Amino acid sequence: MAAMYASDDKPKPRPAITVPALRVAKREGRKLAMLTAYDAGFARAVDAGGVDIVLVGDSLGMVVQGQPSTLPVTVEEIVYHTQCVARGLRAALLVADMPFQTCATPERALDAASALMAQGGAAMVKVEGAGHVLDAIRFLVDRDIPVCGHLGLTPQSVNKLGGYGVQGREEAAAQRLFDDALAVEAAGAELLVLECVPGALAARISKALQIPTIGIGAGAGCDGQVLVLHDMLGLASGHRRPRFVKDFLAEGGSVVGAVKAYVAAVRAGSFPGPEHGYD
Ligand code: KIV
Repeated sequence: MAAMYASDDKPKPRPAITVPALRVAKREGRKLAMLTAYDAGFARAVDAGGVDIVLVGDSLGMVVQGQPSTLPVTVEEIVYHTQCVARGLRAALLVADMPFQTCATPERALDAASALMAQGGAAMVKVEGAGHVLDAIRFLVDRDIPVCGHLGLTPQSVNKLGGYGVQGREEAAAQRLFDDALAVEAAGAELLVLECVPGALAARISKALQIPTIGIGAGAGCDGQVLVLHDMLGLASGHRRPRFVKDFLAEGGSVVGAVKAYVAAVRAGSFPGPEHGYD
């Protein structure tokens, strides 16, 4: 009798999101909602709010540590925060960022990614860039390490890029970005973040790839969206607020409410709006 009551009342836990489920979502036209998190408490909140993917981003260098860029973040720090986040998750897929220069060689990439997965508990690692990074992606994928690529504005390249501006606006740069996206997929990545890219270009890339694209400042034509948690909760980071950020706390009323509002808006295609993107 008691068991019957218990099963009547309990909400069904949602199934865990797996790496193969990402391509299925794209094939079925289901938008993916992704947020960053850096500790167990917020991980519980974003999981309860229904996000598909949680990223322990090296943005933690800026929003948690107060550093001027993501460059100082170490593998050990990402491992520590990934462990914390893993303890708070039930269903969302856990992705951990590969810090600056960990993909300089495939061997270094393997050491870093192994730590993020074996010690941290990540199911996938995110790497910025193409070019020589493609060797690292292939090396990791060949060794059963799922990879998320990251193209467009790659914050670890801030010194080379000269700032955090929109990428791929000129024709040649747009073609390079398009070719890089195809190359990242061909190297074996299962997911691709596109940051600060004109919406039309991101939509063209998303149509050309079999793997889902996750946009941040890349328009509604991507297969999913990501935001930094602090940004979508309206917390000032000490840096200029980019136009792709929306404060969901105002409409959500609580942290879990904000996450639910974000997830619903991403799934419905109402976020991002044109005011959050670039031409
Ligand atoms: O580090 C990070 O949080 C990221 C996201 C903004 C995609 O790379």
